[in-house]
Amino acid sequence: MNPILTAGGLNTFYGRSHILFDMGLEVRQGETVCLVGRNGAGKTTTFRSLMNLSPPKSGRVRFMGRDCAGLPPYKMARLGLGFVPEDRRILGPFSVRENLEMGVISGRTGRWNLESVLDCFPTLRRMLDRMGASLSGGEQQMLTIGRALMGNPEVLILDEPTEGLSPVIVGELKELVLRLKREGTTILLSEQNIRFALAVSDSVAVMDKGRAVYTGPVESFRNDAEIQSRYLAV
Ligand SMILES: Nc1ncnc2c1ncn2[C@@H]1O[C@H](COP(=O)(O)OP(=O)(O)O)[C@@H](O)[C@H]1O
Ligand SMILES: [Mg+2]
Repeated sequence: MNPILTAGGLNTFYGRSHILFDMGLEVRQGETVCLVGRNGAGKTTTFRSLMNLSPPKSGRVRFMGRDCAGLPPYKMARLGLGFVPEDRRILGPFSVRENLEMGVISGRTGRWNLESVLDCFPTLRRMLDRMGASLSGGEQQMLTIGRALMGNPEVLILDEPTEGLSPVIVGELKELVLRLKREGTTILLSEQNIRFALAVSDSVAVMDKGRAVYTGPVESFRNDAEIQSRYLAV
């Protein structure tokens, strides 16, 4: 399969702090790629760089056959890069229905609409008129993913989706990601929960101090105890 998203040589700064060092990655159509690495390794900054929320000072991002240097975040979203940030950003004073409707991106139609998203998230269907702020952490995570799907993304980016969730909800999230995968959704995620990463990914990139220090199929990563102990808190 062709790469749908490739990045290379990304150098990203926050003010004077150099955070990403020649970071690169590749995501093929239909594949699930997971960035792993300790807190502060640069996973979120990588996603922010792809979206141009933190524009890299140098490097290349190619998405959907296009060179994306300097494209503002809303244009990245229109091209089909759907980003679910780590802090979820549910709009508290709006209902679940309104939060979902805000995910619609003009010009992007496809498999996902309010009905199909609610079929995928039966819990959300039961709380359509509840305010976002009244949802539990797990419900909010489902809502942010549902909202991103409403934009019919070509690549769905999930930044540490299991963070702070109970084991039961993590289990539901795993089933959801596996289902999206079976349906052919292309997913780029980051995780510190290695069991979750191993369960859902096709390939893994390990980040350390703003660099990709290892990239390979999930099976090689699973069997590489040395990489796991050197770069991860396992
Ligand atoms: N807004 C910011 N300003 C300055 N430094 C930041 C900011 N956000 C993150 N950093 C620093 O950038 C590095 C990478 O952070 P981040 O990309 O959030 O890592 P991860 O997502 O892997 O935990 C860390 O050293 C972090 O302290
Ligand atoms: Mg992060």
